[in-house]
Order: sequence, then C-alpha cells, then structure tokens
Amino acid sequence: TSAPLVLGIESSCDETGVGIVRGTALLAHEVASSVEEHVRFGGVIPEIAARAHLEALVPTVRRALEAADVGLQDLDAIAVTSGPGLAGALMVGVAGAKALATALDTPLYGINHLVAHVGVGMLDGVRPEAWDDLPEDLGALLVSGGHTEILRVGRISSEVELLGSTIDDAAGEAYDKVARLIGAGYPGGPVIDRLAQEGDPKAFRFPRGLTAGKFVGSVEEPGPHRHDWSFSGLKTAVSRAVEQFEARGLEVPRADIAASFQEAVADVITAKAVRACREHGLTHLLLGGGVAANSRLRGLLADRCRSAGIELTVPPVNLCTDNGAMVAALGARLVSDGVAPSDAWFGADPGQP
Ligand code: KG4
Ligand code: ZN
Repeated sequence: TSAPLVLGIESSCDETGVGIVRGTALLAHEVASSVEEHVRFGGVIPEIAARAHLEALVPTVRRALEAADVGLQDLDAIAVTSGPGLAGALMVGVAGAKALATALDTPLYGINHLVAHVGVGMLDGVRPEAWDDLPEDLGALLVSGGHTEILRVGRISSEVELLGSTIDDAAGEAYDKVARLIGAGYPGGPVIDRLAQEGDPKAFRFPRGLTAGKFVGSVEEPGPHRHDWSFSGLKTAVSRAVEQFEARGLEVPRADIAASFQEAVADVITAKAVRACREHGLTHLLLGGGVAANSRLRGLLADRCRSAGIELTVPPVNLCTDNGAMVAALGARLVSDGVAPSDAWFGADPGQP
C-alpha cells in the first residue's frame, strides 16, 4: 500500500492555503493571501478575510492539483482546518472541504490548526535527516498573529498538551500594535524586524510580562503563569515611551524602540519556551507560526536551545506561516495511523484550544 494522497485546506485567518502530500512527501503548496486588503485597516478584518477565501478557494485548489499533477478522484482523503481561527473564514474552508468530500465520497478530517503547525515538521526536507519520524515528546513553540503557545506533543495524532500560552495578545498582534504606535505600517512583524536592525536593543528596558520584571532566563518564577506570556504591559510601556517623546516635542526614536521591543519579545518568548522544555524533559523543539520569520527570535532561540542541549528544528518560513501543506501533512498522518475520519456534522470551531 502506498502512502495516502491527501489534500489539505487552510482558511483560519487571512491565508487561503491548499497543500497536497503523499504521506510525508510534499507535492504542492499554494497560498493566496488577502493581507493587502487588510493593510489600510492595520489588522485582519474578519468579513474581508472570509470573502477573500470564498474567491480564492477553488482557484487555489485548482493550482495545487495542477502543481501536484494529480486529479481530485486520486485523493485518499481531504483535510481541513476546523479551528481555532476566525469563524467566518473557517466556515469557507470547512464548507468547501465538505462539498468536495461529499461529491468525491472521500474521507474528511477536521484538523486543529495548532497541531497542523507542528505537523509540518513531519514533511520530508523539514524533518531532520536523522529522524524517521517526529520524536515522541516534542516541544512545539508556535508564535503568530493569532497564537503564542508552547505545546508538548506525545503522539502527533493523539496526544497534544498545552504547556503555556499568551494570556492576552499573541506575539504577532503585539508586533502589529506596536508598529501602529510608531507609525511603521502593517503587518508589523516584518517592518519592525527591518527597523530594529538600525536601532539599539538596549536603548529601552521594556517589561517582560509575567516574569516579576526580571530576566526570566535567570529567575525561577513560580505561580500559575510560569509558562505563560503576556504582551499587554509591553505594549503599554511602548505607548508611554512614544508619548513622552511626543509630549516634549522630540522626535520619536523609532528604530531604538523597535529594537528594544523586539528584544523584549524575543527574550521572554525564548526564555520561557526553553524553560518549559527543560522542566518537561523535552529535548527537541520545533518552531512554527509567522513570527518564526523574526531574525532576533530565531537567533536567540538557537543560542538558548544550544546552551540547554535542546535540538531545534525551524521549518522554512513559507511553511511556518499559515498554509495548506501542514493541514495535508497532519491529515495524511491521521490516515496512516488509522484514525477515523471526522463525522459529517463537524463544524467550524473558532474557539477550539
Ligand atoms: O502564522 P501567520 O502567517 O498567521 C497567523 O496565524 O497569524 O503569522 C502572521 C504574523 C503577523 O502578525 C506578522 O506580523 C508576523 O507573523 N510576522 C513577523 C515577521 N514576519 C511575519 N513577526 C516578527 N518578525 C517578522 N519578521
Ligand atoms: Zn497559524
């Protein structure tokens, strides 16, 4: 029996992603993004995202089938992100996937978006060569515009445990808000990353949330939020700094603020992620989500993982951001592991953990 041919659909935010895999081999990976349509609003507008998915879904499926050189009737299963994400956006993908699966009489799998970000690590070319498979007990650090989490993955098809998460904004959201505060544009991640290259990361001492104001790397923080993050205080601190310059009629040192903000985010994310791995005995960590593109986060995480003896896997950026390949990859794994398809009534589940 050959590995299952699976088409995956992702529509939880502003990317319409369609991927096709055969087992762990990536055959096609097509993404249509509505990010341009959200620029003038400075954030993703759910209604616009949903409409954009509706327009992009069928053409993106077509492109993926062409790129993979397979036909719909060849598919062994279809997988679709069922949540978490924006309700209207998710519904477009789920409805489309149900229509396809019904017409083709193909098994359909509703997929958790966060687990799918981890699933990308199973793909040939992403998975380290020494591994036949993802190791059991893998740490996964997911950082994007919609989520900031550290997970423990036992078996990818069945055991995923949330170790910590943001209690307010996602890291990418904090980037977007801070970019707006300093008038740097949208999406905030790439523009701040660029601006930060010209600034001094030590110019401002911005707070690291939920760490009692100290460097978390060196402090043993007890309490219920030991492995959680908070970015709202950081955002407020940046806002105060900007106001102080403006109130005195001084030019806002945008590059220094960007660099210091970026340093605070990278510091607290990497310190807490590494600590969570250490305390849970996890020796492998996989990074995912759009903020994985961040230069400082990548650099600092690599350093701290090396010091802690943790093996780090960072997928290519176009597989870290939202895409359909990760959904297809996880779907193929569920098929291979003999997991039953989702029942016909499953819906979009925006709030699923
Ligand atoms: O995973 P993703 O494509 O979509 C979500 O699920 O949110 O991530 C998008 C997020 C945006 O907030 C964007 O600002 C951020 O990833 N991002 C970055 C960088 N590139 C994209 N954040 C920091 N540094 C970057 N270089
Ligand atoms: Zn995502």
